[in-house]
Amino acid sequence: MKIITIIGARPQFIKAAPVSRVLRAHVEELIIHTGQHYDTNMSDIFFEELNIPKPDFQLGIGSFSHGKQTGEMLVGIERILLKEKPDYVLVYGDTNSTLAGSLAASKLNIPIIHIEAGLRSFNKKMPEEVNRILTDHISEYLFCPTDTAVGNLKNENITNNVINVGDVMYDAVLYNRELANEKSEIIKNLEISDEDYHLITIHRAENTDDPERIKNILEALNEIDTLKVWPIHPRTKNVLKSMGYNLDDIHNLKVIEPVGYLDMLTLESQAKKIITDSGGVQKEAYFMRIPCVTVRDQTEWIETLKYDANILTGTDKQSILEAVAKETTPEYLNVFGDGHAAEKILDIIIQ
Ligand code: UD1
Ligand code: UDP
Repeated sequence: MKIITIIGARPQFIKAAPVSRVLRAHVEELIIHTGQHYDTNMSDIFFEELNIPKPDFQLGIGSFSHGKQTGEMLVGIERILLKEKPDYVLVYGDTNSTLAGSLAASKLNIPIIHIEAGLRSFNKKMPEEVNRILTDHISEYLFCPTDTAVGNLKNENITNNVINVGDVMYDAVLYNRELANEKSEIIKNLEISDEDYHLITIHRAENTDDPERIKNILEALNEIDTLKVWPIHPRTKNVLKSMGYNLDDIHNLKVIEPVGYLDMLTLESQAKKIITDSGGVQKEAYFMRIPCVTVRDQTEWIETLKYDANILTGTDKQSILEAVAKETTPEYLNVFGDGHAAEKILDIIIQ
């Protein structure tokens, strides 16, 4: 059996790591990297640290408008699929690389395996929501991370080959947590102390591309006394620069370049709180039992909201400040599987 996996953005490298590891032992897998993310610390670092097999095809598309980026990926992926004739195409999540991969496969009648299927924010203004709805509706196998995702698909009449296998990001955290403890020197290198800082990540277009929302977030950060460590996504860095913001002006903020996965796990696990708009980071906060504040209006990961483990604030300054200040003692539920999602996916594929 031949599977072509299509990845291109940071969270997809992390999701592919546990899956490719088990897949390769049993089936032929080729990887197409679309080149959506390309900086060393947005791409290569993950392949090296997580031992992800080197991509067999590098499309090198890079950054463009949504239409041009997705269109160029579609052309490049189709060319490879026509030549390689895989039995399945495997895609992850909800990025433009996901949509391009699934569209290219669908038009050639190649069955699609979608990992992290069924997530919904119910906000179609987000590019991710459209990408995931379209991908789910043309996929043959839909591997869901939670029961909520299975239910979302059922509401859209998608019930065939829909399986809750758990979350592959949980697999990745369990596999790498110890390694991160052993190898990461980020706390020492940044000269910070455990549990003495909040970790920040902001990159969603809904925040960065809305001047009012980003202003509110920055004003809230400025009013938080605790040290804040912010590995900044290149999108956010570019937007803030073009808007004339100087992050040095924000009180007690340490801005750093994006970090590798092992450093990120370490920063997350030692943080007092995590303030984010990332999908993956919300879940990792939950896996590591670190209180999270999500500066978005919706989250796909509604399980994390129970018992205030994750507080959804939108971008109202006061709401952010109250959530960050709130003392919480959440209970954590076992809703993301048992850390063996990748093996379950493999079992189903080879059956
Ligand atoms: C993409 C995904 C988003 C995901 C995020 C993960 C879509 C529509 N969005 O958003 O769902 O949460 O990845 O990080 O697919 N840039 C660089 N270097 C890089 C990559 C990007 O400088 O290596 C800059 C470029 O200015 C680019 C901007 O970041 O225009 C945005 O990159 P893009 O991949 O288009 O979207 P993300 O915001 O990263
Ligand atoms: N991440 C990382 N380094 C960073 C920021 C994030 O390794 O500097 C990891 C993070 O641990 C998580 C994933 O990237 O596994 C989340 O990706 P991102 O926030 O870019 O996208 P999203 O999950 O929102 O789609």
